[in-house]
Amino acid sequence: MCGIIGYTGRGGHEAAPILLRGLSRLEYRGYDSAGLSVALGPGRGLVTRKLAGRVGALRELCERLPAHGSSGIAHTRWATHGAPTARNAHPHSDCHDRIALVHNGIVENAEVLRAALTQSGHCFASDTDTEVLAHLIEEASGDTLEERVIIALGHVVGTYGLAVLSTDEPGKIVVARQGSPVLLGIGKDEYLVASDASAILEHTRSVVYLDDGDIAVLTPDGYQVIDRSAQVQERAVDALAWDLEAIELGGHAHFMHKEIAEQPETIRSTLRGRLMGDGSVARLNGLNLSPSECAELRRITIVACGTSWHAGLVGRQIIEDLAQIPVAVEYASEYRYRKPVPHSGDGNGSTLTIAISQSGETADTLEAMRAARATGSRVVGLVNVVGSTIAREADGGIYLHAGPEIGVASTKAFTSQIVALALLGGYLGAQRGMPSAVADELVCGLSRLPDLVAQTLELEPEVQELAGRFAEAHNALYLGRGVNLPVALEGALKLKEISYVHAEGYPAAEMKHGPIALIDDEMPVVFVAPHDAVYHKVVSNMHEVRARGGRILAVTTQGNGELHGLVDHVLRVPATMPLLSPVVTVLPLQLLAYHTAVLRGCDVDRPRNLAKSVTVE
Ligand code: F6R
Repeated sequence: MCGIIGYTGRGGHEAAPILLRGLSRLEYRGYDSAGLSVALGPGRGLVTRKLAGRVGALRELCERLPAHGSSGIAHTRWATHGAPTARNAHPHSDCHDRIALVHNGIVENAEVLRAALTQSGHCFASDTDTEVLAHLIEEASGDTLEERVIIALGHVVGTYGLAVLSTDEPGKIVVARQGSPVLLGIGKDEYLVASDASAILEHTRSVVYLDDGDIAVLTPDGYQVIDRSAQVQERAVDALAWDLEAIELGGHAHFMHKEIAEQPETIRSTLRGRLMGDGSVARLNGLNLSPSECAELRRITIVACGTSWHAGLVGRQIIEDLAQIPVAVEYASEYRYRKPVPHSGDGNGSTLTIAISQSGETADTLEAMRAARATGSRVVGLVNVVGSTIAREADGGIYLHAGPEIGVASTKAFTSQIVALALLGGYLGAQRGMPSAVADELVCGLSRLPDLVAQTLELEPEVQELAGRFAEAHNALYLGRGVNLPVALEGALKLKEISYVHAEGYPAAEMKHGPIALIDDEMPVVFVAPHDAVYHKVVSNMHEVRARGGRILAVTTQGNGELHGLVDHVLRVPATMPLLSPVVTVLPLQLLAYHTAVLRGCDVDRPRNLAKSVTVE
């Protein structure tokens, strides 16, 4: 959701090209409008360039109308309040263009503040909630920009990651965080701020993650973090583990394609150093859950959104099967507004809440995790982005180590989430009497996955051919059962979000309770049907579709020759332990969505209306 970056330095670098490069790395967080402001130097004011459109268009504008200066801020927007127009693009200014600011988040009391500011003579130039912040800072009295920002924020209800420039103190950037991720980049004679590490990686690997309530002051000479009472706060400097290669296309046409192809390696990385051949299945040090705590667990709740929620559904079956603990999987956005039943704390065992999130910043997942903690539950995170808010607030967790996921449609995070959940299920099972033969099968199954994934990806040319059929369709139905029902849901989500072909995922046996009415020879029906305990049931569902003239694509297990005549196309994936099969069955569906979107001329990495990392509710 919206990307922000700021830069100040005394190494003689121009800010604008640095900001533009950073923005293009952030574009996956929002891409309906973009803008930047640069401080021209003492007494020379600020210059702002902004427009509705992509970062590329902003770059062209800045080539025609350069903005010279060594400090500045920039923004790429995913609209919440106000249409995606040039006037609503960030940065926003006060009445006299002495302040420029970029904002990620929502000012919830913007209407009230706007009315009060208008009454006291302020003129507004946009329809955004953000603009009130610039006028509040203008209105505030204080000797320094940070003092004025602190006073202004005292009136604000909502969330923000904020970077502010002022003509009075060129070279200084004031940053604030409340509920929206912000980190500082600490370079040599240069300091940066960004909503996301990928924007600053080419400048520095030393970062400071801000906490909610922090205010940071960056100048070309250094940085300081203070709280709302201007008390200095010590914040650790962390090292980023990602390298630049990880955030570049590396010869692929799209990040989504690169990330699909990376999965043998990302799964290897999720497993690295964690698999144990001694019956304990996994070493999960970061989980902070002792063997006796595992043994006492009475129930687990998984909270997540979107693709991560689908991974949670797979995780439910894995954990229930291996560890015999009842698991509920909740949409984080729903869970946070229910009244979750408090953890009884009666000595009969405890509850565990698992927040699954690639970004670690999804607002609903974060709030659901906080709501669960308020009931007395222990909370752990299954997160990809190191240092993200969910990772930092959880009592423990498992990092996916899948590397940065930049394609808006999540792919490699999904398979790593399932692998991490399998490690967790095996770890819990091992403490709770799981037979050692199952432990061995799981360890063996997990260690083979990277190779099986690599083999499955060789189906790409075949899938690419099939994509033509889907590119012409208006609707598609994805059906699966058991551990592969979430794969059907995920396949449908992938198709609709990047190719805009309407797709529905459904439990195969539920089809005859309604969706079967949709079937005709126009609509492709995808069955996810590897050889497992429910395979023959799913084949019966195929017959039902076939009898009504439906066109079937089946994803099944290698060696299965019996679907001949029943389905139009078969994609065969390698055999795995059934509980792990979603890691391979989902791959052709990711590729199918990708190639369908390419054939339809869609912007795969920037699907319309979407953005990576939903930091507003
Ligand atoms: C779909 C997709 C989204 C995310 C969802 C949760 O391809 O990417 O559905 O899965 O927004 O995001 P995270 O996992 O970052 O919490």
